[in-house]
Amino acid sequence: MNFFIKHCNLDQEKTDCIIVGIFELCKLSISADYLDKCSDGYITNLIKLGDITGKIGDTLMLYNIPKVFSPRILLVGCGKKDDISRSCFKKILKSTTNVLKKTSIKNIIYSFTELNIKIYNNNIYWIIRSIVLSLKEFSYKFLKINSTTKKSINLDLITLNFFKKNDLFVGKIALKHALAIDKGITSAKNISNLPPNICNPFYLSCQAQKLAQRYKNNVLVEVVDIKQMKSLKMNAYVAVGDGAKNKPFMSIIKYSSNNVANNKVIALVGKGLTFDSGGISIKPALNMHEMKYDMCGAAAVYGTLIMASELQLPLTIIGILAGCENMPGGNSFRPGDVLTTMSGQTVEVLNTDAEGRLVLSDVLTYLERFSPNIVIDIATLTGACVTALGESVSGLFTNNEDLAFELNKASQETDDKIWRLPLFPEYQKELRSTIADFTNVGKGKAGAITAACFLENFTKKYNWAHLDIAGTAWKSNKNEGATGRPVELLCQFLLNQSNYIYS
Ligand code: BES
Ligand code: MN
Ligand code: ZN
Repeated sequence: MNFFIKHCNLDQEKTDCIIVGIFELCKLSISADYLDKCSDGYITNLIKLGDITGKIGDTLMLYNIPKVFSPRILLVGCGKKDDISRSCFKKILKSTTNVLKKTSIKNIIYSFTELNIKIYNNNIYWIIRSIVLSLKEFSYKFLKINSTTKKSINLDLITLNFFKKNDLFVGKIALKHALAIDKGITSAKNISNLPPNICNPFYLSCQAQKLAQRYKNNVLVEVVDIKQMKSLKMNAYVAVGDGAKNKPFMSIIKYSSNNVANNKVIALVGKGLTFDSGGISIKPALNMHEMKYDMCGAAAVYGTLIMASELQLPLTIIGILAGCENMPGGNSFRPGDVLTTMSGQTVEVLNTDAEGRLVLSDVLTYLERFSPNIVIDIATLTGACVTALGESVSGLFTNNEDLAFELNKASQETDDKIWRLPLFPEYQKELRSTIADFTNVGKGKAGAITAACFLENFTKKYNWAHLDIAGTAWKSNKNEGATGRPVELLCQFLLNQSNYIYS
């Protein structure tokens, strides 16, 4: 699938299909109107027959329009003219791909850049990004291990048409960003979708090391194995890995650039449980296989660093993949154990299935050596977060208002939804232990919050945010697979940190 940006005379272009919008009450978009005039009112006459109204989701394929060189024009309903939200735009794109899937069309021209999408200052930039990323999302196919694969889109060449030549510059930036973000999202999905007998902590560390080879000028990778973890006193991390034959590996991906927009160090930490059986507090069998996705946080960090490297962002970023496997066995840690974390604080284990926070607590302490200004951890941390926010919204927790603002901004820009939950001191009390500094599970029902409060105890030295992606990182049942979230959100956060100017 190749993308091009161009200023076209739509009637003169020879492509398989030109895609243009029409609005409610049969109002034509600028592109549709142009083609209508070229064909002496052919489109208006057809619309009069009443086969398309312009409602979102409506489509009508037209063939062999007089005086238009391309054989097909796809009219797509875009709803109310000046009232297109980002999610409406996604629906519009979805309905076009549904039509394209059923055809043999290979080359298309999208002429959508004149649409007005609400909330964005720089419309062209965001339209291009959305078109590219949506098409990539709809056409994503995981290389399945069985041989039958469902038909996806056949698209080869996608031209994005511009009306004003002046917009080409910003269009090119948008395309460059979109392709880099897609690389990040697709890499995150691919690694997340692998089975746990292939993608284990060692495999994750190998993938990290490959980044250092691929992006020699910007990326250095260091892998910390169990021996080093022990000498660092990362006892909580080590304890979680004790029951598994696949030993833990922590990968540190150091990204830097010659020109930097600021002197901040941004750290991204991903929970990388390549399988979470629950350990001695074993999970029920139903859906246990989905716990191969318990490394989606690490996959998101990996994908985000790919995007940063592709664009050579002017930033300093530390990405950590906290690879580990949680298994029951004779060497497993147990409920009742007391662990001394790297920070010196002690934890009474009440449930070995609350393992993510144990692994992360030591990583959050380990990170202090990089003197980060901002630390964001990304974790499929709690089922309780899914109960609280469902499957389309990730949980946000933070000890810093600016960081809350910046993450919410990036979330709104990308439609990768998050919602902030509180870290009030009342919740911290639920982690009181009789024999240690804290327990690893909270007493009450607010499980997503008490998990975040647990992490907060290890984040005093920097501005910190935690994203609980338990509900959003993958889909179950017939649409099963990783979503690649929240890679786009993290990429946008980094782009904003680089002071990118879009025009
Ligand atoms: N990885 C799970 C959280 C999870 C569960 C994510 C289901 C997505 C779907 C995590 O390690 C876990 O097991 N958390 C426990 C915590 C509990 C024991 C306090 C949970 O949420 O049940
Ligand atoms: Mn667990
Ligand atoms: Zn887990």
